[in-house]
Amino acid sequence: MASSSPNILVIGSSNTDLIIQVARIPKPGETILGGTFTRAAGGKGANQAVAAARAGGDVTLLARVGCDANGDQSIAGFSTDGINVSHIIKDKSNPSGVALIFVGADGENSIAVASGANDFLSPGDVRKANRLISKAGVLLLQLETPLATVQEAVRIATRAGVRSVLNPAPAQPLPPALLKQLYLLTPNETEAELLTGIPVSDIPSAEQAALKLLAQGVQNVIITLGSRGSFIAGEGIRQPIPGLKVVAVDATGAGDVFNGALCVALAAGSPLLVAAQFATAAAAISVTRLGAQPSAPTRREIEATVRTGRVTHRTTRKPNK
Ligand code: RIB
Repeated sequence: MASSSPNILVIGSSNTDLIIQVARIPKPGETILGGTFTRAAGGKGANQAVAAARAGGDVTLLARVGCDANGDQSIAGFSTDGINVSHIIKDKSNPSGVALIFVGADGENSIAVASGANDFLSPGDVRKANRLISKAGVLLLQLETPLATVQEAVRIATRAGVRSVLNPAPAQPLPPALLKQLYLLTPNETEAELLTGIPVSDIPSAEQAALKLLAQGVQNVIITLGSRGSFIAGEGIRQPIPGLKVVAVDATGAGDVFNGALCVALAAGSPLLVAAQFATAAAAISVTRLGAQPSAPTRREIEATVRTGRVTHRTTRKPNK
């Protein structure tokens, strides 16, 4: 990457993840025994902030948590990772977000979220951070906080000439005016399908969907395809990026790790393709580990994987970090 300590502002959610690893994800009405329980810090915004910090970014997280033990523990974890927590709002009226997650033996998951304070991160909260947004190297957002808040942040960033990256997860329809202001949109297959109406299941369908999003005014698109890698379109590029072969333990947060690492490389001046390769390596490492934030790799680990094309570091962090 071109420079050190790239400056990333993440605006988004923070949750506590209650994870049960099971042989397979239960069907409606079914009870499955034999699970293993783990509690870990999560939430798409916070996961992306942690991933960006471990990948070498100078990261600030703007989020809302409750005045409760879950919120305190999350903030303590962010501080350990060197994230600037001075813009995290402690909400007196709403609890911290909680996610219930099943992880099957194949590493796939099923997630339900009680958003709590995340639902109250408001356009007003974002306006108060006007100067912070205007000074960001890259602004990174997701959709676990209100859409109006995302729109306000992107509007401020665009006015200040700051690049906005939106990971549109969980999927929801997006206003055309928002799409036109984005430097980069990073949907997965299901999110790309919801946004374009094109079922995405392979590289050709991902290319079709990416071109449709570019036609809607997004400057660049990366559609992530899980173990098959991703498809990147924009800035004179149109190509697939292969995934790395790994033994999957837990895919939870892999997309978040991809986005956090991607923004660090972009803010450091890397071209989009190089940034996407760095992010692909980071995400591949993360799926070999349990949990969202515990799975985010360090920059040293990511660089080793970029160099060798293999995931060599599989050390699992303590679950509550
Ligand atoms: O992307 C994974 C995240 O989604 C989990 O950490 C969970 O909190 C949900 O927000």
